[in-house]
Amino acid sequence: MSDVYLNGRFMPMEQAQVPVMDRGFIFGDGVYEVIPVYDRAPLALDRHLDRLAHSLEGVRIANPKSRADWKALVDELITRESAVNQSIYLHVTRGVAPRDHAFPKDATPTVFAMAKPMAPPPLQWLSEGIKAITHEDFRWLKCDLKTTSLLANVLLRQMAVDAGATECLLIRDGYLTEGAASNAMVVVDGLLLAPPRNHLLLPGITYELVLDIAARHHIPFAERPVTEAELRRASEIMMTSSTREIVPITTLDGKPVGNGIPGPVCKKLLSLYQERKRS
Ligand SMILES: Cc1ncc(COP(=O)(O)O)c(C=O)c1O
Repeated sequence: MSDVYLNGRFMPMEQAQVPVMDRGFIFGDGVYEVIPVYDRAPLALDRHLDRLAHSLEGVRIANPKSRADWKALVDELITRESAVNQSIYLHVTRGVAPRDHAFPKDATPTVFAMAKPMAPPPLQWLSEGIKAITHEDFRWLKCDLKTTSLLANVLLRQMAVDAGATECLLIRDGYLTEGAASNAMVVVDGLLLAPPRNHLLLPGITYELVLDIAARHHIPFAERPVTEAELRRASEIMMTSSTREIVPITTLDGKPVGNGIPGPVCKKLLSLYQERKRS
């Protein structure tokens, strides 16, 4: 593995250590980003850095780097990693301070970053689709912030794994929000439906790219609330994320979605997404 970055220095992973009083460790008081890199070029880097800035602002941590410095760090991470396809992980916590819920007066944010090789999703996922379960969305009301406090997401995704599934789709007050670690979209009566970007879900960069593609290629879509009933009668369901791209969900709570095989809208989006990546 290539060296990781911690607070201004590159070092082997084993040497990268933070004090136990770091608020990231004590409170999960931090935010992060994951950026996909194809052929050594980051995909939609500005969008990811915009979202990082939004997350930092949302949790009131001063952005520790300028846009140019973040870009230089991302470049350096890419250069140091030998794999051409990578994922870049950026992580900022409020820093080290005596344990007290209230913000410390003068802590310096901890900045950690690493690159690792990124494998494409398994071919079987794309040819056959994956299984998902549903569960009540019991997370907080600031899901638009990409925070490191991920315990609810961790529990929800583990429920999927325990059920022999790959993802857990979340329902809040009768509406689909997203997946435990992905966004979700459905096709109902030929229309691609994406739950609206608000405080109840993470504005996924892949989600945004997929909707851009749909708009450009005249695939009919709407960004609007998706009821649980629509989710259950959808002819197609898909999840999107930077590391898994677009993955068809062909079994939901043990029942086939549509014909139980990846549908035409998902397949079309997948091939257009590959073109978008190459460009
Ligand atoms: C809860 C959640 N929603 C959505 C996404 C997808 O976001 P992106 O497409 O930016 O990776 C993720 C990605 O990890 C996630 O954890």
